[in-house]
Amino acid sequence: MRVHWARRLSPLVALLTAGVVDEDAGTVTLPLYYGSYADGEGHYYVLSDTSDEGNAKGLGLNPSAKLQYAVAGETTARLDGTRNILVGRVGKVDFTPVRQVVPAAEPVPFPPTSFTPPQVGDEDYSPIVRLANVGQTVYNAPIVAGNVSDAFLNRFCDGVPDHLREAFEAAVHSKVVRICPRDTTVTLELTPGFSFAKPVLYMSMDSSAALAAAFEDITHAPALARIQLGGDDSAFSAVERLFAIVNGLGNGDLPPGAPLNATTHPGRQGFFSAIRGEGSPLNILGGIPSVATDYSPLWDVNLGRWTDYAVAANLRHRLVGEFLYLGQVARGYITAPDGGAFGSSGIIVNCPIVQRFL
Ligand SMILES: *[C@@H]1O[C@H](CO)[C@@H](O)[C@H](O)[C@H]1NC(C)=O
Ligand SMILES: *[C@@H]1O[C@H](CO)[C@@H](O)[C@H](O)[C@H]1NC(C)=O
Repeated sequence: MRVHWARRLSPLVALLTAGVVDEDAGTVTLPLYYGSYADGEGHYYVLSDTSDEGNAKGLGLNPSAKLQYAVAGETTARLDGTRNILVGRVGKVDFTPVRQVVPAAEPVPFPPTSFTPPQVGDEDYSPIVRLANVGQTVYNAPIVAGNVSDAFLNRFCDGVPDHLREAFEAAVHSKVVRICPRDTTVTLELTPGFSFAKPVLYMSMDSSAALAAAFEDITHAPALARIQLGGDDSAFSAVERLFAIVNGLGNGDLPPGAPLNATTHPGRQGFFSAIRGEGSPLNILGGIPSVATDYSPLWDVNLGRWTDYAVAANLRHRLVGEFLYLGQVARGYITAPDGGAFGSSGIIVNCPIVQRFL
């Protein structure tokens, strides 16, 4: 038997194995599914997580038992067994808005002074779908394109021609870089972050809040705001915690005399740095499958701020894990953004995990 050493030694652990990750491009290519609304209009979606462990294994999705408890913010659909498609889903997404984020004046550029999410779901739209006629299984099925034809989307099978860029952006989720009903695939841009000190890549798809949707360049799904936050380790919780920092180190914090090519701060992180265009905020996820048993793609955003003391005393550093983060909260170096007690910011983001490094 031949041993594939390269594969065995790879430090990358694929979690969402239904997808193929392009490490250099920072993308994942997933199967593209077509579904039908109750009124006969169509839509395209991806599958990333399911409450059913058997189906998770079979389809290469992330298992998330907690998805069973998102009842307040879910939607339902039925399997049409003669066509093997989901029908009767309600809740539509308007893909036509143009994203806008205007940073506030320095040195406090976040929150932005004005913002528009790139796409907006109606009050019924939820990425979380319960199959009403088979097993009550719950899937994370974010919509990536609305009622457009296969022929329209097939023009983007090899990428997006410049002259069709505007039409493309008005028709698909803003993380879509390529979509192809002919090949039943869609390629999505991924977001880097950390979980328990491991670098991870995740999909970022929907948020309960307009500000977070605009900032993260994802769909505003108001229905997700109905899901109960807090208590992520207690019975019937649908969520897991995500930790973010407002005022992490930025490239502007490099001391003078840095080597000529060192323009990126090695400890860079946070919303100020991200809104200045320096890169991802490098958020920290709680439990992910294969490391913890309490994973949910529905993240309860816990946003914090390094205190003035921590900033002045040069104590800021890149945070890479939940317990490292909570340790700095316990020591009093990180508080809520307003200086109050650290905790839930009252915002959900739908961010399915894709892979971890190590
Ligand atoms: C939905 O798409 C179908 C097929 O492309 C089209 O015939 C129909 O007019 C569309 N409906 C709406 C409301 O745009
Ligand atoms: C710095 O960047 C320049 C231009 O990209 C390159 O030629 C040079 O080799 C780099 N220096 C170091 C020390 O990497």
